[in-house]
Amino acid sequence: MKLKDKVAIVTGATSGMGRATAVLFAQEGAKVVVVGRNEERAKAVVDRIKAEGNEAIYVLGDASDLGFCDEIVKKTVETYGTVDILVNNAGMLSMSTLQDVSIEEWDRVFRVNVDSALRLCQLTAPIMKAKGKGVIVNVASVASFAAHHGFAAYISSKHAFAGLSKSMAWELGPEIRVNAIAPGAIHTAMVDSIGGPSVLQGMIDGCPMKRVGQPEDIATVALFLASDDSSFIDGQVIKVDGGFEC
Ligand SMILES: NC(=O)c1ccc[n+]([C@@H]2O[C@H](COP(=O)([O-])OP(=O)(O)OC[C@H]3O[C@@H](n4cnc5c(N)ncnc54)[C@H](OP(=O)(O)O)[C@@H]3O)[C@@H](O)[C@H]2O)c1
Repeated sequence: MKLKDKVAIVTGATSGMGRATAVLFAQEGAKVVVVGRNEERAKAVVDRIKAEGNEAIYVLGDASDLGFCDEIVKKTVETYGTVDILVNNAGMLSMSTLQDVSIEEWDRVFRVNVDSALRLCQLTAPIMKAKGKGVIVNVASVASFAAHHGFAAYISSKHAFAGLSKSMAWELGPEIRVNAIAPGAIHTAMVDSIGGPSVLQGMIDGCPMKRVGQPEDIATVALFLASDDSSFIDGQVIKVDGGFEC
């Protein structure tokens, strides 16, 4: 077991790659704090983890409310006594162009995609530092490297998140390792919200591997980065995109 007795917070764990990561971490021995907004999905993830004989709780709230981050860490420490691993995975899409995006939408995207990760880092890093060891895995995007027409706030937030990840590595080492994953097109609710089958087919055609990724393709990399298998990898933004951005 690669995460035996570790305590892991996984945000956005009610769906997609966060859910796959929460389930895999629990199978590898972690006690998992499933974070999201939707109670039915959160309960389903925790029930599945427990049905497999593993340990999890859920905490519900909106990541745009930074007070919610305090609640997540408080509940984690009350229940499991500590935090060893933080996966900042919760994210929201925005398909507005530069011309159309409102300041309110821009702010909300940054709150959810960047600010909440900063706040959770500020709250958990002192706990990890005091223990002398911890890991943070941030789920950025290939949109952390390249832009396309539209998606202005999303792309800007993911570029910022890559920079924040590198800053975290510099400021939190040597006790805490921080890396980011940059997924390409992964078949989740978020990708389905962009468009129908023709959009998905375009993603498949544009990828050297001629497929979109599955949430488990990201979960296995998150496990690698959270475990001692990656003990000398720090401050990286690792593309997991089937070659899409190569
Ligand atoms: N899918 C892709 O192709 C792709 C590519 C690159 C990067 N990403 C990134 O990967 C991460 C996971 O996305 P996914 O594709 O797995 O999407 P998903 O299936 O739609 O899951 C998104 C998760 O984020 C949570 N979330 C969204 N807004 C939230 C908010 N305001 N407060 C709290 N939780 C919130 C959702 O919780 P509820 O459902 O409970 O509301 C859900 O658990 C995101 O950061 C996304 O930007 C995705």
